[in-house]
Amino acid sequence: MIKYLGSKRNLVPALGTIATAAGAHTALDLFSGTTRVAQEFKRRGIFTTACDLASYSYQLARTYIETDADTVDYDALRAHLLAMSSLDSKEGYFTETFCRQARFFQPHNGARIDACREYLVPLTDDPLFPILLTSLMEAADRVDSTTGIQMAYLKKWAPRSYNQLELRLPKLLPGKGQALHGDALNLVNQVPAVDLAYLDPPYNQHRYFTNYHIWETLVRWDSPETYGVARKRVDARGDQHRSAFNSKRTMAQSFFSLLGRVRAKTIVVSYNDEAWINEDEMINAISKAGFARVKKFSFSQRRYVGAKIGIYDPRGNKVGKPGADRNIENVFVGGEKATLSKISTALAP
Ligand SMILES: C[S@@+](CC[C@H](N)C(=O)[O-])C[C@H]1O[C@@H](n2cnc3c(N)ncnc32)[C@H](O)[C@@H]1O
Repeated sequence: MIKYLGSKRNLVPALGTIATAAGAHTALDLFSGTTRVAQEFKRRGIFTTACDLASYSYQLARTYIETDADTVDYDALRAHLLAMSSLDSKEGYFTETFCRQARFFQPHNGARIDACREYLVPLTDDPLFPILLTSLMEAADRVDSTTGIQMAYLKKWAPRSYNQLELRLPKLLPGKGQALHGDALNLVNQVPAVDLAYLDPPYNQHRYFTNYHIWETLVRWDSPETYGVARKRVDARGDQHRSAFNSKRTMAQSFFSLLGRVRAKTIVVSYNDEAWINEDEMINAISKAGFARVKKFSFSQRRYVGAKIGIYDPRGNKVGKPGADRNIENVFVGGEKATLSKISTALAP
């Protein structure tokens, strides 16, 4: 699993418990990111639809949510992984941009990433493509030199960056599911009604498109022009890839409009205590959206890795002290009274 800002790793068991206690057979994860929450739903036998605006997240969802592990041609998959692992290194756009102009990866790994990604070009329409690309992205993530976001690289190479890129077989899950790529504000009108919807939007100005620009480029493989020390994509500057959830001006309204359009018996909203919307506003909005009861559950969780290591400027110099390494994650659940009481019982220590 890639390192990801706002990833709900520690909340996954609780979210799974909520889905099971709610009796969900179908679920929707509208901001699926790494897909780890959607994976938990799928693991519990729930037909899950995962949506996200990011291209890399869509490929992760195709791999972990849409692909049925029982129908995969493992011989072909292993043969491709072996072929990719044996390719000669070949320096290209990736090495030049992210290993020489910037220092996100060591050039010996960059040249292998270039070779592997080129290998995948003719396989774009193959059902194994997302799985192989996920394997490559996860392998690259294990040898990067960042604190977990791609706005900056470390001044000194991270110890893991010296390791060799190692492609592994992603841990696929049996069962069917669906991956959708796009803006939640549009997709919400297209997805069918579900038993449980999970909403985990960005709650601040930090844009995933720029925070994970290297994964966007690795997936799109479109060799964009780049700028700045971090060699971000030039299209990160325009409005094209902006999310309404990253602007203080538009966040609350967009989120409330989304809540009003989600068709689900039970709604689960992740909410952190640094968000632009306050708790009362959130509870009111969930009630207004038609959910009979709303209850808050709080969990203390470790913050993203950068909060522990420190704050770095675009040149990788440490410029700030890390904040508290734990924050409170609140989960608001809206639904029928009986469902909420089953969830409370299931979550009771
Ligand atoms: C807090 S993260 C979700 C993390 C996820 N729950 C996990 O555990 O990995 C928010 C996600 O929202 C996505 N996103 C931002 N704006 C979006 C939009 N307008 N529509 C759909 N997804 C969006 C981002 O790409 C990011 O993956």
